[in-house]
Amino acid sequence: MQDTENESSLLTREREIKQFKIDLIKKGKGNASLIPLLQSAQDSYGYIPEQAIHYISKIAGIPASIIYGVITFYSQFRLKPLGKYVIKICQGTACHVNGAKKILHVIQNELGISVDETDSSGLFTLKSVACLGCCSLSPVIMINDTTYGSLTPDKLKKILKEYRKEGAAG
Ligand code: FES
Repeated sequence: MQDTENESSLLTREREIKQFKIDLIKKGKGNASLIPLLQSAQDSYGYIPEQAIHYISKIAGIPASIIYGVITFYSQFRLKPLGKYVIKICQGTACHVNGAKKILHVIQNELGISVDETDSSGLFTLKSVACLGCCSLSPVIMINDTTYGSLTPDKLKKILKEYRKEGAAG
């Protein structure tokens, strides 16, 4: 089962990378092609690797320093891969009032990361959002597609421990 999943995600990845290469050729030269090419690279690799910047620079005729500037300007782009588990911490009003700050501190202490960072194991990436749409459960986080509400520091530590265990098991 696991092998079949890995094979199919590998095939998807290969298809996406091929698409990026096709886009490189089709979208070609000039400033107008830059954003679509960056989006295509990120869709293919999950982030924008240095090598992709090099290709784009060569084909679009735009210096790499300018491309880096564009990537860092737009928050949609990232230069590093996301962790296996993306934690979205809600910092909306209801969550803020009900202890989102404490929850953020637990994540920072437990994983050693701040918002928009990935931990050294590559397992966790932390993102901040304005509202997850379940304010009655505040404070709330999401880990990938699962929502955790009415969080306390202890509850959160247990949740993170489970994910660490699952992540270490592969
Ligand atoms: S404010 Fe946090 S879920 Fe709405």
